[in-house]
Amino acid sequence: MALVSPSLLAADFLHLDSEIEMINRSEADWLHLDVMDGVFVPNISFGFPVLEAVAQRCIKPLDVHFMIVHPEQYIDRTAKLGAMMMNVHVEACRHLHRTVQEIHNAGMKAGVTLNPSTPVSMLEDIIEDVDMVLIMSVNPGFGGQDFIENTLTKVARLRRMIAGSGSKALIEVDGGVHAGTAPRLVQAGVDVLVSGSYVFRSATPEHTIHELRELK
Ligand code: DX5
Ligand code: ZN
Repeated sequence: MALVSPSLLAADFLHLDSEIEMINRSEADWLHLDVMDGVFVPNISFGFPVLEAVAQRCIKPLDVHFMIVHPEQYIDRTAKLGAMMMNVHVEACRHLHRTVQEIHNAGMKAGVTLNPSTPVSMLEDIIEDVDMVLIMSVNPGFGGQDFIENTLTKVARLRRMIAGSGSKALIEVDGGVHAGTAPRLVQAGVDVLVSGSYVFRSATPEHTIHELRELK
């Protein structure tokens, strides 16, 4: 069984209130929020005004994924939202260890994120200090892309690294997660599934969340 963190990026932005109510009623474990700056990734999503509004209504723990340069500049504001998890990209952090420390000092859990071409070996010297590794299974920037199959090998490699260290880090996978890919990810030992379009474009999103959580 894996936890499910639906990605709000695929929600109906004209009706965020009812989308958040759906998440609140559902069995979703967390809510995944994708912040994009048009620099680190070739797309712009939403920023703090939207995060603050969502944080006021959403009863689920917030799993915030920053696809931005200099995420360290936003640690305090993210903590003020009451976010549970702050995910930063390894590729965006020159001093990743310091950033992870600052996220912890601000009272949040720290997630480190890998682009598809970034090897898990980049994490060898920080794996014991992080709460989660977010493996991108698409190139970040857009919802609705095809799952990159190499992700399964990468998850297995990360599982071995975690097992061989004292780390208790969770493994989260983000991008192209749907009925065709989620069972294999759960089998490979993924702890948290992020799913955007598959959940929000479903005719019965609450049931889709339930089904993802039931996978063995
Ligand atoms: C992509 C984002 C994802 C995105 C996933 O850059 O990080 O969270 O919303 O969307 P789907 O599930 O549609 O691939
Ligand atoms: Zn994401």
